[in-house]
Amino acid sequence: MSYDLIVIGTGPGGYVCAIKAAQLGLKVAVVEKNKTFGGTCLNIGCIPSKALLHASEMFEQANHNFEKLGIKTSKPKVDWKAMQAHKDSVINGNVSGIEYLFKKNKIEAHIGLGRVLAAGKVEVQAEDGSTTILETKNIVIATGSDVMPLPGIEIDEKTIVSSTGALELEKVPSRLLVVGAGVIGLELGSVYARLGSKVTVVEFMDKILGPMDADVSKQFQRMLKKQGLQFKLSSKVTGAVKKGKTLEVTVEPAAGEAAAETIETDVVLVAIGRRPYTSGLGLAEAGVALDDRGRVVTDAHYKTNVDGIYAIGDVIAGPMLAHKAEDEGVAVAEILAGQAGHVNYEVIPGVVYTAPEVASVGKTEEELKAAGIKYKAGKFPFSANGRAKAMLETDGFVKVLADAETDRVLGVHIVGFGAGEMIHEACVLMEFGGSSEDLGRTCHAHPTMSEAVKEAALATFAKPIHM
Ligand code: FAD
Ligand code: NAI
Repeated sequence: MSYDLIVIGTGPGGYVCAIKAAQLGLKVAVVEKNKTFGGTCLNIGCIPSKALLHASEMFEQANHNFEKLGIKTSKPKVDWKAMQAHKDSVINGNVSGIEYLFKKNKIEAHIGLGRVLAAGKVEVQAEDGSTTILETKNIVIATGSDVMPLPGIEIDEKTIVSSTGALELEKVPSRLLVVGAGVIGLELGSVYARLGSKVTVVEFMDKILGPMDADVSKQFQRMLKKQGLQFKLSSKVTGAVKKGKTLEVTVEPAAGEAAAETIETDVVLVAIGRRPYTSGLGLAEAGVALDDRGRVVTDAHYKTNVDGIYAIGDVIAGPMLAHKAEDEGVAVAEILAGQAGHVNYEVIPGVVYTAPEVASVGKTEEELKAAGIKYKAGKFPFSANGRAKAMLETDGFVKVLADAETDRVLGVHIVGFGAGEMIHEACVLMEFGGSSEDLGRTCHAHPTMSEAVKEAALATFAKPIHM
């Protein structure tokens, strides 16, 4: 069988690349080792975690906020099995959607482990061990990432879990210890805190959500503390021992081994990052270069050092985000079809889907300072926003950072209800090189949370009206 393009991996990078390439007239096949399409994102990542985040947030609202809005209900209860069933049906709906899209776009799907034999040749090994060799003009590697292990801690996906096990625990644990205050730790930590677990988060650095703007990180930590999450910053987990049904976890200061303490817990979630997944792909034999972190090295057009072999998504450098992988999938498909594919890495939003949400695009204040760029900052709190008051969602703020000389917006950071939706007006503005004055002079509907974005922009180049 011969194709214009074979994509290995059907996560958001791979499936989007395949669809776009087929839309542009290429003859496309995908190879996927899992039984379902959609990769980490649809099966064990973005989608199932958001299903649980939403369901647990609804429980939290019913439990604590309905009464403040004048709604009386009997005390809500968690039906964990039903919540899991909701999550599973959301996964199924999404993965079968990809199957439909492959058929619609005449993309041939081969289920099995893909291995690059050489440029133009991919071997697919089916579950029964049989192999097929496919021929193609181009190969795109989109094999994604896998859980980063923590030395000394063995993940069994039952009581010591990665995000994968944390999405399907048998029951809501009384105590959960999370290693890593990154996106996974805080999202899944929030889920279980809302459902009644006592959650302790151990983080190596002295702040949560490391790369986020420090202002946002501080405010967000305060909010999570109010929700019951406990934090041990500048600390590391060095061991976990099972004692009956309890796990004894050793926590040490990040700086040294002195004063280790033991924390008892029922479940440990290891969430210290992810690493590129290239196992079994045969890249060394095919001569494809990896960097010192195991990522496939590409040029600006996603081409590896071997002609005809490209790579995108979590398996290459850059933020490990589904939308970054998708955009790279589109770009490489366009390049292979003779067009000018491109991703603007300056404008890739990041969203943490907790309650409230955290959203960010562009540079943080710390990055601007480090780069010696002079900037103006404008901030507006949701406590001064009418819609936020009506919804009892007044926690948080919007911060706009603009170049001191040109007023071009360089970064926008939001912590608050709906931040993950609001951030996109900042993305569009930044794509067009817009200024804080452009944003502040754009008419925003009233009453909306987005008015806080406009007010923060006003605070950057002039003065906000409602503060
Ligand atoms: P993947 O989605 O990892 O897909 C790779 C695919 O390749 C897999 O299906 C795998 O089976 C297949 N594969 C690997 N090797 C082979 C082989 N040799 N042969 C055949 N097939 C192979 N990102 C966001 O932007 N928003 C979120 O809300 C978000 N939430 C997340 C929550 C969790 C719990 C996790 C773990 C991740 C989350 N992410 C989120 C990150 C997101 O899932 C990844 O960035 C994204 O899935 C990367 O896409 P990808 O296509 O590069 O790889
Ligand atoms: P992460 O990189 O976001 O956070 C890992 C955290 O663990 C860091 O704060 C790090 O300092 C800390 N850490 C590392 N080693 C440690 C140790 N030994 N002890 C204590 N703390 C330690 O990684 P995470 O949360 O595992 O997520 C993986 C990837 O998945 C991320 O790149 C993220 O982009 C993506 N993701 C995105 C989501 C979103 O966009 N909403 C949701 C979930 C995951």
